[in-house]
Amino acid sequence: MLKRTLMGSVAVFAFGAAAAHAQTIGFSQIGSESGWRAAETTVTMQEAEARGIDLRFSDAQQRQENQIAALRSFIAQGVDAILLAPVVATGWDSVLEEAAEAEIPVVLLDRMVDSDPDLYLTAVGSDLVHEGRVAGEWLVGAVDGAECRVVELQGTTGSSPAIDRKNGFEQGIAGADNIEIVRSQTGDFTRTRGKEVMESFLQAENGGADICALYAHNDDMAVGAIQAIKEAGLNPGTDILVVSIDAVPDIFLALAAGEANATVELTPNMAGPAFDALEAYFADGTVPEKFIQTESRLYTQDDDPAGEYEARKDLGY
Ligand code: AHR
Repeated sequence: MLKRTLMGSVAVFAFGAAAAHAQTIGFSQIGSESGWRAAETTVTMQEAEARGIDLRFSDAQQRQENQIAALRSFIAQGVDAILLAPVVATGWDSVLEEAAEAEIPVVLLDRMVDSDPDLYLTAVGSDLVHEGRVAGEWLVGAVDGAECRVVELQGTTGSSPAIDRKNGFEQGIAGADNIEIVRSQTGDFTRTRGKEVMESFLQAENGGADICALYAHNDDMAVGAIQAIKEAGLNPGTDILVVSIDAVPDIFLALAAGEANATVELTPNMAGPAFDALEAYFADGTVPEKFIQTESRLYTQDDDPAGEYEARKDLGY
């Protein structure tokens, strides 16, 4: 059996004769707030099955306390490793220390924590600041110097994508004095809240006449907001530009219909690279890079949105 001891912050490995392979992995998922999240869950389960891993899944229903309880339960069960998609960035030190003391490697999926990086093996995710910057730069090009009042739907408060995508977008529009974020509020990454908050933005901004663009931290909020814009008698995609992040099938339908303008892709396959890293770690002690970055790319109405919808519609979103 693989044995790991922690000496200060340095991991030391010793290997026995038995096959070193992660058989049992606990997965603490945030919940099912978005189409992207559903796809990440589906892909993780499929990847685990294909690799013969016994995946113990726990849905935290958006609550950090449920995730902490799940991690403690995984530790008590003696799993070989833990995947954690952390709902917020803070408050993980104690439970990550408990996992380290139990010599159970933790891999972060898609969101980051502010804990000491020595407390987790690696993190698989995208450059969340980059995603926001790409969205902002797209808007700068799209409005081409025209005055533009932007409303922003933020993700879950305290989550790393909400923090980083906000910062990234602000970087993307920095220097474009014609663009101003006039309202910004959380829509909690859900379609329902995205619609509700957009309704309040429309009401506060002259029925929407004073809004030039919507920036949403994920596609689900954008889809909800598109509905609100239509119900307000405006045309999303033309009267109000819509740029968001994730590249889920429904945003491609909106792009194809001319009701959304751009999305930045976030791959739901975080588990593949995570399991690869764990396999190498258990095979011979290979310690992965602290951050394994997935690719992000921009899609617009010019990128065959109908074809992209067809290609993605059965992938578990
Ligand atoms: O952490 C990734 C984000 O979480 C996705 O962009 C969003 O859709 C999800 O809820």
